[in-house]
Amino acid sequence: MRVLVTGGTGFTGSHLVRRLLKRGDAVRVLDNQPGLFAEELKALGAELTLGSITDAALLRRLVDGCEIVHHLAASFRQVNRPQSEYWEVNVEGTRRLCQAALASGVRRLVYCSTQGVHGNVDHPPGDEDTPIEPEDYYQYTKYQGEVVVNEFIEKGLEATTLRPMAIFGPGDPARFLMIYRRVAKGRFVMAGPGTAFYHPLYIDNLVDAFELAENAPAAVGRAYLIGDAEYVTIKDLVQRISQALGVKVRIVHVPFWPVYAVSGLCEVVFKPLPWEPPLFRRRADWFRQNRAFKIDRARAELGYEPRVGLDEGLRLTGEWYRQNGYI
Ligand SMILES: NC(=O)c1ccc[n+]([C@@H]2O[C@H](COP(=O)([O-])OP(=O)(O)OC[C@H]3O[C@@H](n4cnc5c(N)ncnc54)[C@H](OP(=O)(O)O)[C@@H]3O)[C@@H](O)[C@H]2O)c1
Repeated sequence: MRVLVTGGTGFTGSHLVRRLLKRGDAVRVLDNQPGLFAEELKALGAELTLGSITDAALLRRLVDGCEIVHHLAASFRQVNRPQSEYWEVNVEGTRRLCQAALASGVRRLVYCSTQGVHGNVDHPPGDEDTPIEPEDYYQYTKYQGEVVVNEFIEKGLEATTLRPMAIFGPGDPARFLMIYRRVAKGRFVMAGPGTAFYHPLYIDNLVDAFELAENAPAAVGRAYLIGDAEYVTIKDLVQRISQALGVKVRIVHVPFWPVYAVSGLCEVVFKPLPWEPPLFRRRADWFRQNRAFKIDRARAELGYEPRVGLDEGLRLTGEWYRQNGYI
């Protein structure tokens, strides 16, 4: 089977590409940069194209002959980018990809959205019927990507949306690495009480969900929250990471709102500069927002069942960081 993975050299995409290659698929990868894994994926047999999800002619060429498209490319990690860039990549890029997929007769497109479309969950755990209330422009554009996908379903495209929780695992260069680094140093500064709920998702569990979404008959036109079997408070998460690493951590609490105010200020100060601000509101919100969901719909309709438990996932992730010199 020929499959296209957009965002395929990124953290999540590279894991998915490895799984598909192992399954025996012919895998095309589109990404705008080689990232950490391009050479490895090429050596494993992936056909890599560097280019943008906004390039309609390129998309037509890449989807040609593909049975499945997994769409993960997104403006995501970079903060302080103009809103127009988020819109162009996350919404218009999705539109051009759906257009190309519909025209070439792709059997199923799987769109990777985010739990973030629900924003803060007032009464956790939420589910897919929890109101759509994105809290920042990134999340807003990811939801608008869902709207676009649904428009194309009306036109005959078979597509499914996944809304992953907080993805972690070997190769994650960002959020979890920051937590691991602080825990490894033995001191973790917690803005606020650390009681907000957080729902992790080990990467292999998510890759299972992508595979299941390719075929499940009930999944067309449906959105699925995908997470691990358990969610935790962020204080608990820090402690579980300290256990996974076998190090003691001291959690030092500071008030949340001053941190949030400084984050907003950092965004303003760094706006004209080429560097990412050390603090920004999306990062500060990590300490405050409840993100915890039921995964019952994915279990019932996709047959999804998280195979890797939280402690095992945290241990494997810590091992990878140590082996690769990150901590
Ligand atoms: N990580 C999480 O916790 C999480 C949670 C929920 C949902 N998601 C979603 O999961 C997907 C994968 O996320 P990830 O964590 O694996 O992030 P990632 O490592 O940043 O992967 C996304 C890839 O897409 C690429 N990309 C960005 N703009 C592009 C463009 N115009 N054309 C082609 N490729 C482009 C990125 O390149 P650059 O690095 O150059 O931007 C990156 O290689 C995204 O759709 C994200 O919204 C992530």
